[in-house]
Amino acid sequence: QQPLRVAVLGCGVVGTEVVTLITDQAADLAMRVGRPLELVGVAVRRLNKSRPGIDEGLLTDDADSLVRRDDVDVVVELIGGIEPARSLIITAMEHGASVVTANKALLAEDGTTLYEAAEKAGVDLYFEAAVAGAIPIVRPLRESLVGDEITSVMGIVNGTTNYILDKMDTEGSGFDETLEEAQELGYAEADPTADIEGFDAAAKAAILSSLAFHSRVSSADVYREGITEVTAGDIASAQEMGCVVKLLAICALTEPNGQGERAVSVRVHPAMIPRDHPLATVRGPYNAVFTESRSAGRLMFTGPGAGGAPTASAVLGDLVTVCRNRLRGAAGPGESSYAQRKISPIGEVITRY
Ligand code: NDP
Ligand code: HSE
Repeated sequence: QQPLRVAVLGCGVVGTEVVTLITDQAADLAMRVGRPLELVGVAVRRLNKSRPGIDEGLLTDDADSLVRRDDVDVVVELIGGIEPARSLIITAMEHGASVVTANKALLAEDGTTLYEAAEKAGVDLYFEAAVAGAIPIVRPLRESLVGDEITSVMGIVNGTTNYILDKMDTEGSGFDETLEEAQELGYAEADPTADIEGFDAAAKAAILSSLAFHSRVSSADVYREGITEVTAGDIASAQEMGCVVKLLAICALTEPNGQGERAVSVRVHPAMIPRDHPLATVRGPYNAVFTESRSAGRLMFTGPGAGGAPTASAVLGDLVTVCRNRLRGAAGPGESSYAQRKISPIGEVITRY
């Protein structure tokens, strides 16, 4: 049987786990997909870096040549950031590959370009790992709940800041030392400013809003405050009031002028949560997302939101799905209808339709 060929871009915290799982679980993955997977290359920036357990013969510092190969079925992008990730993904699609990515920064900044490139090429774009690590939340919004009317999506979507706030609350730890721990544990972004200033949570909120409300919400549309101004004094005051401080992402359908016209409001900021609220019990790098919809009512999704292994679980799930789709000759859910919705920023209320 002709194998399905997979190229991985990036072999850092997440990429290392993904490459290891593809190799170690080769027989199981072949059984689940219905065809063996062949890892044809792993692109990195520094070829001379030590990577225990990774087959050196797979490594290349020429990602561009990898995505230009016409025999690659799936490209898994785990580099992060806007460029060169965007160009590599688009080139891969133009050469017929489906794409799996964990890159929330790119999806939230310029998802439209990626969706359009996927549609034009007739390939898949899957990104479960881009929001809330291991927690299945993209697929529920994109598929399971797509027939329902979602009215709000809210929760904790950044593991690094939750880890920091939790340690400040429960152990009286300092901000800087806890951020360093989160970096060592692989929770933080390459530039942790993205986590602590709320950019990462804002990107995730933009992706969740786009999916939930069938609109195009980008990072720039999201009201954003991070946790750098949260002091030990704030945590102590919250404790005195029976509360805990959490960084929340809140995405809601609203009616800004009270005349029936609906809009989408998306914001990220620290909030005080009563200690008996389910969100207050979300500890360490865990995330939790609540959805509210017309027919299903309230749903809660929770679990590990950051880190190499949990994120790799979501990436591998997408990889198997995309491979199955390819064997069936059918693409998964597209995004084309979203482009028909208008975006008109008006302060916090950012999408009208
Ligand atoms: P890392 O910084 O650990 O890894 C990035 C990898 O990309 C490294 O292997 C690096 O190479 C490689 N790279 C960088 N630039 C290039 C380039 N120009 N060409 C080829 N390779 C390049 O990041 P993470 O693994 O933490 O994150 C990867 C993605 O996953 C990001 O989009 C992130 O937002 C997302 N994500 C991360 C999570 C986490 O918990 N860490 C959770 C969910 C999503 P080298 O090794 O040589 O430096
Ligand atoms: N830096 C991110 C976080 C990784 O801490 O949540 C998961 O997306």
